[in-house]
Amino acid sequence: MGREFASAAARWMHLPGLEVRPAIVALCDTNVALHSWYRENIAGLSQVTDDYRAVLANPAVDAVYVAVPHHLHAEIYCAAIKAGKQLMGEKPFGIDRPANKAILEATRQHPNVFVRCSSESPFFPGMQRLCEMIEQNAFGQIIEANTGFLHSSDLDPGKPMNWKRTIEFNGEYGVLGDLGMHALHVPLRAGWRAQNVRAVLSNIMKHRPDGGGKLVPCATWDNGVLLMETIDPGTGEPFPWTVKLQRIAPGHKNTWYTEILGTRASVRWSSENPRLLQVMHYVPGGRQAWEHIQTGYEPAFPTITGPIFEFGFSDSILQMWAAFLYELAQRKPLKRFAGCVTPEETAVSHEIFTAALESQRHGVTVTLGH
Ligand SMILES: NC(=O)c1ccc[n+]([C@@H]2O[C@H](COP(=O)([O-])OP(=O)(O)OC[C@H]3O[C@@H](n4cnc5c(N)ncnc54)[C@H](O)[C@@H]3O)[C@@H](O)[C@H]2O)c1
Repeated sequence: MGREFASAAARWMHLPGLEVRPAIVALCDTNVALHSWYRENIAGLSQVTDDYRAVLANPAVDAVYVAVPHHLHAEIYCAAIKAGKQLMGEKPFGIDRPANKAILEATRQHPNVFVRCSSESPFFPGMQRLCEMIEQNAFGQIIEANTGFLHSSDLDPGKPMNWKRTIEFNGEYGVLGDLGMHALHVPLRAGWRAQNVRAVLSNIMKHRPDGGGKLVPCATWDNGVLLMETIDPGTGEPFPWTVKLQRIAPGHKNTWYTEILGTRASVRWSSENPRLLQVMHYVPGGRQAWEHIQTGYEPAFPTITGPIFEFGFSDSILQMWAAFLYELAQRKPLKRFAGCVTPEETAVSHEIFTAALESQRHGVTVTLGH
């Protein structure tokens, strides 16, 4: 993800009109084999190190992006905040709830440090249109909502182990910590409040080859399905919200989806067909017909690309970084759904994931407190 950010920063010329511009001056990675890529591709890089403390001690560094394995989040995020560096961290923002609480405590102690968590899918133009419907309270009473993030490469039993499949480095959350924020960002920003959660978690591939081809235990949760009774702040009414987070969803390479069904309007978007937005407006007694709308390159932050063209993953990363820097400079997001995840929103995600583990452990529905 570090290289994705470097690439986005290199094409900042795509975003005319933004008053802020990132300049990457320092790079830290303990894998020194990666250093040459950064040296070769980033003009103005004056510090390359394998010790993050050296970057935090560098007075030329105003802000840091930290994308490291989950067991390092609390240590490095807290150190960055204490050093006074503005921080974009990665999800899940702490390997577990105590780690997340430690990061939140550091943000409270340093209120002038701007801290956000990365999540790019809401920046797809189809999702931005869907978010406008949330802003307009277009749904009437919400009947049901379904959000999720689906991968499939773990269907291959020959896929080797890596840190994301190891509890020590990825966390007990497994797939929930890895993919969960992508399915929670917009609902949490919408103010949906889950009252309780019933989770069914699956460890489908219990062994995987290590680097040398030997089979070793793989104990992380591959898939999670969460059902939450949730309150819509617009109406005060409860509705069922399902969240599917799956590393083994046959055929799904990288599918983000959001579906909201309501008494007055319904909407669906999926990265499987990212230009397509399906909308149904309903007037009592009237016709029920879904519109299939082609969205173009119409993101929150204007770019040089014309609106008829296609928008993709690296465009969503660029938009997310525009949102981070815009809010850092202006101290408010461009609009409600064009902002990165707040530390408080990550805390709610941790409450949900921790309750989901308990639900799975005891086979029960767990009440959430907020
Ligand atoms: N927003 C997204 O779409 C998205 C996608 C993938 C991963 N992520 C998140 O990004 C983070 C990193 O995941 P990734 O896929 O980039 O992993 P990765 O393994 O590709 O990269 C992690 C990097 O951290 C480096 N590293 C490890 N320990 C370090 C240390 N002590 N100091 C400095 N560098 C260190 C590693 O050498 C490696 O290059 C995770 O939190 C993950 O959940 C987010």
